[in-house]
Amino acid sequence: MSNKPKTATLTYDGKSYELPVHVGSEGEVGIDISCLRKDSGLITFDPGYANTGSCKSNITFVDGEKGILRYRGYPIEEIAEKSTFIETAMLLIFGELPTQAELTRFREMLSEHELLNEDLLHHFDGFPSNGDPMSILSAVVSALSCYHPDLLKIDGEDHMRLAVANLISKIRTIAAFSYRKSMGLPFMYPDPKLRYCVNFLHMMFSLPFKLYEPPLGAVRALSLFLILHADHEQNCSCSTVRMVGSTQTNLFASVSAGVSALWGPLHGGANSAVIRMLTLIRNEGIPVREYLERVKKREFRLMGFGHRIYKNFDPRAKLLKNAAHNLLLNLGRSDELLDLAQEMEEAALNDDYFVERSLYPNVDFYSGIILRALGVPVSMFPVMFSIGRLPGWIAHWYEDAQAGTRIHRPRQIYTGPQRRSYVPISQRK
Ligand code: CMC
Repeated sequence: MSNKPKTATLTYDGKSYELPVHVGSEGEVGIDISCLRKDSGLITFDPGYANTGSCKSNITFVDGEKGILRYRGYPIEEIAEKSTFIETAMLLIFGELPTQAELTRFREMLSEHELLNEDLLHHFDGFPSNGDPMSILSAVVSALSCYHPDLLKIDGEDHMRLAVANLISKIRTIAAFSYRKSMGLPFMYPDPKLRYCVNFLHMMFSLPFKLYEPPLGAVRALSLFLILHADHEQNCSCSTVRMVGSTQTNLFASVSAGVSALWGPLHGGANSAVIRMLTLIRNEGIPVREYLERVKKREFRLMGFGHRIYKNFDPRAKLLKNAAHNLLLNLGRSDELLDLAQEMEEAALNDDYFVERSLYPNVDFYSGIILRALGVPVSMFPVMFSIGRLPGWIAHWYEDAQAGTRIHRPRQIYTGPQRRSYVPISQRK
């Protein structure tokens, strides 16, 4: 076999251009057009970046046709069964599963950095009690930059570990405090004796006179939820974090931008949209078939369905569906929204509209059932997604920072007016 590097040839206007080709470790092929404009004056056009490889990355592999998702090479099914959220976060960010000693030390660091600066707590008073928790999360995460000037420029892996411990630990405190504020409840400070997920549930649900005791299965379900959201390669919020980070913006501000990108109903806001949709269908007694017909007439989208990458099934949706069943079983409860979601899935998967477009349940379709069962209100669902996605955002920010990536700056095809003369205001019609 020839060792000659592969190239692709582009012919335009009678001229040919040789373009280098990059091949990934799982065989994906990317044509390198980074010098195309310099050599030919041409740019590529790819609205929504649906076919653009923006970077090389070692973190997460997705094969949407086969329904494969792996973090640093490990299948998501194995991680989901065997790992904890914190081990998963360390794997994503630092590249390897931690040893017991590394994990123990990192857990200690999470406890050491779980408190917010008391001055930062006053920020919560500035928000209306019905303010959206995603707005609060984005603002307070960005404000961390003011309180940690020592972590704005990262100098080596130990320093990064300190920044990571601060952010992963504090995001949980910020999220829980935004919920307490919305409920008019006093803040419950984190308890350093508790592990990550239990500590979060404690800050959310303990009362000064009664400490919260998680019911059977609750901690495992939360951990699984977070693991399954932890990374998904170059999705919109991850690409946002990478883009902001490419200007050498600090980690806190870059992550805050990721929270904003995640907020929208087509991304992390879809989990709450699913529950609102199912609740509406139940409350108004809309037959599932009738709802799907309206989706097909494009009155609205079926939330929690479809994915830019998965054209077969989303492995996370399968795991979350099982987890929702198990949690409800452990709690000795049923949820009619779960029954409705399953009826909807079955009807959609037997309908040509959804089959032809390869629309399957995505990560958001069943996740809300778990959050509801845990007692998390719908307005907090995208915040929960953010806590889960944080390790992915950090891992990608760090990968870019280490690689010293160029500032991200796409081009455009300009379609506006050509040069024209300025019209004085007195002559404008
Ligand atoms: N319901 C009805 N039709 C849909 C849906 C849906 N949920 N999703 C895609 N389609 C149709 C779409 O109308 C289009 O049809 P046509 O070719 O006839 O015009 C075709 O499928 C392709 O859609 P697209 O908009 O080109 O697909 P996309 O890759 O740009 O969008 C998506 C992906 C996830 C934004 C989209 O499927 C969607 O809006 N889903 C609902 C929102 C949702 O569940 N989002 C969570 C995504 S997964 C987690 C995350 O990223 O946060």
